[in-house]
Amino acid sequence: MRTALILITLAILFISGCSKEDRGVGPVKELSLSEIDNNIVAEGKVLFENKCSTCHRLDVKLVGTPLCGITRRRTPEWIMNMMLNPDGMIKENKAAKELFEKTGVRMSPQNLDEKQARKILEYLRTEN
Ligand code: HEC
Repeated sequence: MRTALILITLAILFISGCSKEDRGVGPVKELSLSEIDNNIVAEGKVLFENKCSTCHRLDVKLVGTPLCGITRRRTPEWIMNMMLNPDGMIKENKAAKELFEKTGVRMSPQNLDEKQARKILEYLRTEN
């Protein structure tokens, strides 16, 4: 009984630890952010308007969830992987799968390369 309790506690600690550092599934394994770079923010904003704004606004829900404050809710790696590998994320990442189950619409891949996704991320960092 006691052993079982210890095991359960460890499992809970392990699971909650993982979800805090959830980096998602995809090409981006590790990304460290520094000061916001305003030059790439401007480029990211244009990309966001072209590639994302049909489904996402910052403050209201369209097809996708509002993205204001997303960089506080998710790790940079997770956000990048959602942009670059939405299919894989919905299939293999618990949080993305749950979102998909809630919205019932699949986020489609936007044919971004990693550099473009990084610019959009920089823009999203300014929209907190
Ligand atoms: C065709 C509509 C569509 C487009 C275009 C789209 N998304 Fe999404 N996005 C969704 C949906 C729907 C979800 C919820 C997950 C799902 O159902 O696939 C989502 C989820 C997300 C999430 C997770 C949000 C959260 O609350 O955790 C992020 C981040 C995201 N999208 C970023 C982007 C970015 C950045 C772009 C532009 C490169 C983009 N999306 C383009 C529909 C879209």
